[in-house]
Amino acid sequence: MRISNKKSGTCLKIFFLCLFLLFTVSCAVSEKQAVKKQADARSGISAYTQYHRNDCSPERIILNLTETPSKSQAVTWRTCAKAKDPKAQIASVADSPALKENLRTINTVSEKVRVGKEKFVYHYSAVFKNLKPNTIYAYRVGTGDNWSEWNQFKTAGKNHKPFKFVYLGDPQENVKSMCSRIFRAAYKKAPDANFWLFVGDLVDNGDKDEEWTELFYAFGWIPRMTPMMLLPGNHEYPDKRHVQGKAFKLFQLWRPHFTLPENGPRGLEETVYFIDYQGVRFVMLNGNEKLEEQAKWLDRILAENPHPWTIAGIHQPVYSTAKYRNDSKLQNLLVPIFDKHSVDLVLQGHDHTYSRTYKMKGGVRAGKNEKGTVYVISVSGPKFYQVKTHYKGLMAKMETGRQLFQVIHIDHDCLLYESFDVKGELYDSFTLKNN
Ligand SMILES: [Fe+2]
Ligand SMILES: [Fe+2]
Repeated sequence: MRISNKKSGTCLKIFFLCLFLLFTVSCAVSEKQAVKKQADARSGISAYTQYHRNDCSPERIILNLTETPSKSQAVTWRTCAKAKDPKAQIASVADSPALKENLRTINTVSEKVRVGKEKFVYHYSAVFKNLKPNTIYAYRVGTGDNWSEWNQFKTAGKNHKPFKFVYLGDPQENVKSMCSRIFRAAYKKAPDANFWLFVGDLVDNGDKDEEWTELFYAFGWIPRMTPMMLLPGNHEYPDKRHVQGKAFKLFQLWRPHFTLPENGPRGLEETVYFIDYQGVRFVMLNGNEKLEEQAKWLDRILAENPHPWTIAGIHQPVYSTAKYRNDSKLQNLLVPIFDKHSVDLVLQGHDHTYSRTYKMKGGVRAGKNEKGTVYVISVSGPKFYQVKTHYKGLMAKMETGRQLFQVIHIDHDCLLYESFDVKGELYDSFTLKNN
């Protein structure tokens, strides 16, 4: 086809005009992107974060020990929007990253939880069963198009076997700012700890989701790899001075966050339970409510204990070392049971001090060759109380003002307890023999 000169001149003009417009628009877009990139760079937002800006991936992923830790493992997590068909996957760990060997996909239990006036989140839990003892597994949680990373855990051994665990007192306040480093120091000191044990007051206001956000920030990925054993303190309940009767109950954010054993007294599920771990019976108590029922249950559970070691956890101390505190009710109720069954160690929090008794029996120091119980109080967070001297004669060590973590090793008939400060330096230690 032949085009006239006049027509071809007009076409050329339109062509150059379009080219100019295209150039101007692309310059404007590039400039806008460059300005945004610079702004993001200034605020520290990486390309990865930009990609995940509106992401609703699994978060607050946490492993909990079950009542059969050599053959099962519980995991809990949450998302900001309801996940379609949430699942958990587990596979044997081999040299290849394929993770196809014995890959299993299991269903989860979901729960919608209110965290604000119009704000809801979704918690999920799954229990991996039929696992082999003393074996490393890989797992992930999520949905078809939105999975967590693969994490790993190791099941407990079937029989008595040396192991270590980390024990931590109340984090409670300034958790992101001041507890992150104590958790990291604990992980650095004992990265191979089989689990961590917390004795309550994880946060200051257990009904405030933003405080739980801080807790999981401070944890980082540790609970994705190291199972946690936890019990509630008084800050996971409303203040008893103001709330009584039916209104006094565990805050609703506790149970959705964890998948803990339900083998304790009725009505205290996931707050009172026992776990047998490689020759030790761990008994976790709830010092906030139904104490008489717990005492009866404790007596029975300890009478049936086939293991050589017994360690109990409770938030409120039996021999308090904080000024203005003394809980004689707990002492009268629990000490005779601890004595009767020769509980080796009682791990406590609440007082925001550090103290460790001598080996005790019947409220006094036990004889050299007598069986007895050591009561410890520790604190991991930055809140401290003054110590009182009331029980000074019973204490091998008593002080305040230090954030601490403890590593406890059990090797057949020997228990080694070590307490460390944030620098990772040894602060206190003792050994117990079980003959
Ligand atoms: Fe407390
Ligand atoms: Fe506390």
